[in-house]
This record gives sequence, structure tokens and C-alpha cells, in this order.
Amino acid sequence: MDIETYLKEKRELIDSYLKSYFDTPSEPSILHEAMKYSLFAGGKRIRPILALASYEACEGDSKNIIPYASALELIHTYSLIHDDLPAMDNDDLRRGKPTSHKVFGEAMAILAGDALLTEAFYMLSNARIQDAGFKIQDNDASCIMHHASSLKNSTPITHYSILRVIHEVAMAAGAHGMVAGQVQDIRSENSEPDRDTLAFIHLHKTAALITASIRMGPILAESNEDTLIALTKYGKNIGLAFQIVDDILNIEGTTVELGKPAGSDEHKKKMTYPALFGIEKSRQKAADLISNAIDELKVFSSEAEPLREIARYLTKRRS
Ligand code: IPE
Ligand code: IPE
Ligand code: MG
Ligand code: MG
Repeated sequence: MDIETYLKEKRELIDSYLKSYFDTPSEPSILHEAMKYSLFAGGKRIRPILALASYEACEGDSKNIIPYASALELIHTYSLIHDDLPAMDNDDLRRGKPTSHKVFGEAMAILAGDALLTEAFYMLSNARIQDAGFKIQDNDASCIMHHASSLKNSTPITHYSILRVIHEVAMAAGAHGMVAGQVQDIRSENSEPDRDTLAFIHLHKTAALITASIRMGPILAESNEDTLIALTKYGKNIGLAFQIVDDILNIEGTTVELGKPAGSDEHKKKMTYPALFGIEKSRQKAADLISNAIDELKVFSSEAEPLREIARYLTKRRS
């Protein structure tokens, strides 16, 4: 299995869904433009791809869950827009382009982030209605009811599993997950790094949404508890490794490769793995986490090969 080809194919599936979703203009057009600007600036789409790969590991056809997986990218993109704001990391470059606030101003960047976050939950809750051809701008409740009931057997995804996904994603993105991590990240600038705070930051600001992305697969496939537990452990391990690798790349990568400013963590005295452990130990920690993640997949056979390959790719990535 060629992982580069796999990632490209899945990225295209997500991108084509997002493109058609955002093809419909909305007012004010500046907000629509700002949302599209960051969303289509060229992200890796790794969170949606992880959701598709874990659904496939649970014997599902990934085409069934594209809208749910795509919603993760809206949340992730909002988090990047806000993360780059002057009040937070104050970065000028993201995904190889000037950051949202540089192009649209701070107020519009904040609002584009707010809108993307909210749209994600609209997308998650509305996906089945949309599948039936319901226009997203039409908010006539009776029309929604009509389309929802006409859908009954057209998809294997149940309303109950969608509710569980919404619950999970909300937990992972908000005050119990990503936002908690972002708060601790900001509060820890300029302070002496310590193991527990560092683990809290990385597990919340990054691993929480990555783990929720992976749990989306078994939840939508209504897999058994053992499968869910194994994939959750895989998710936590690769989620933490992902942020450790991000810390390392911030030191070793170039701004051109990363599409975001290299060296910024040291400049802002961020609490990172290399700041506490040094580069080599951090690299080893990431490698150990990846190997633990792959071990958690032993209950699966070839259907989890993409998840194994993605885990390996994460330590090798250059952007
Ligand atoms: C960057 O995430 C922010 C982190 C949580 C480390 P990605 O590395 O997935 O960024 P994009 O989506 O490809 O731009
Ligand atoms: C990103 O953390 C985490 C979120 C956006 C939630 P960082 O601030 O370390 O990531 P980059 O380096 O700006 O992508
Ligand atoms: Mg940050
Ligand atoms: Mg940042």
C-alpha cells in the first residue's frame, strides 16, 4: 500500500465535498470569502483522513461518512485562525499564505473562526438532510423534517451514532479538550517547562481532536467496545506524537517547508517537548508513541493497514 497515494485520494474526497459545500454563496460575502480563504489554503486534511481510515478499519465504506469527516476540518481550520491571532501566537503565515487576520483584519478573522466552528456542528447534524438534496441555506423546519423522514434507509449511519459523534467532537474541541489545551499553552509561555503541564497542553490542544477524529470511525460503524478502546489508544498515542513532531519541525523545518514561521516556539518561549527534553529525546518519545499506536492495532488485520501507515508517516512528515 502506497501511503502517499492513499492520503492524496482521501484528501481529494474531502476537498471535493468541502468545495461543493462552500460553492453556495452566503451573505455577507466577506465572511464567506474569509471562511473559504483559510479552508482552501492547503491543509493536509489529516483529521478527516484519520476518520475515514478508522471507519475503513471497522469495515465501513469511507464514502458514507465524508460530511462527518469534513466537519473536523472546519473545526481544525477555525482553531488555526484563532491560534494565529495577535492575542494568541501572533503569526503572519499559515498554510503558506498570509494569516486570516493579515488579509481580512482581526475582527473578520475572529468571526470567520466562529462561523467555521459553528458550521461544523451544522454539517455534522445536517449531513443526512443534505444527502437528500436539501439546500443548506433553507432553514424551513418542515422541509427539514420532510427530507429527514424520506431518508430512512439510504445510509447505514444511524441518528444515534450521529448524536454520539456530535457529543464526542464537542467534548474534544471545547473547554474539556482543545480550548483547555490552548489556554494552558498561552498561560505557560515564558515559564519553566514541566512534564505534567506539557503533557496536559499537548494532549488537550492537539491529541483530543485527533482522538475524536479516529473515534468517529468505530462510532459511526457501531463497532464493539474493544474496537473502540483499541482505536482510542491508537488515537491518543498518535495525537501526542503529532504535536511532538510539530514541536521538532518548528526547530528543524524551514518556513517554506512548513508554510508557517519556523523557530517561533523558541522566540515565544513556548512550553514544548524539545524545550524540556531536547530534540533527540523528543524524537525518541514520538517514535515510541508511534510504535505503541501501531501495537494497539494488533486486533485488526489488513483493513487497518492505512492506519498503520499513517502512524509511520507522521514521524517522517516534513510539513
Ligand atoms: C497544525 O496542524 C496545528 C497542530 C495541531 C499541530 P496540521 O499540521 O494538521 O496543519 P494543516 O491542517 O496541515 O495546515
Ligand atoms: C496548534 O498549536 C494547536 C491548535 C491550533 C489547537 P501550535 O500553536 O503549536 O501550532 P502551530 O505551530 O501554530 O501550527
Ligand atoms: Mg499555539
Ligand atoms: Mg501556533
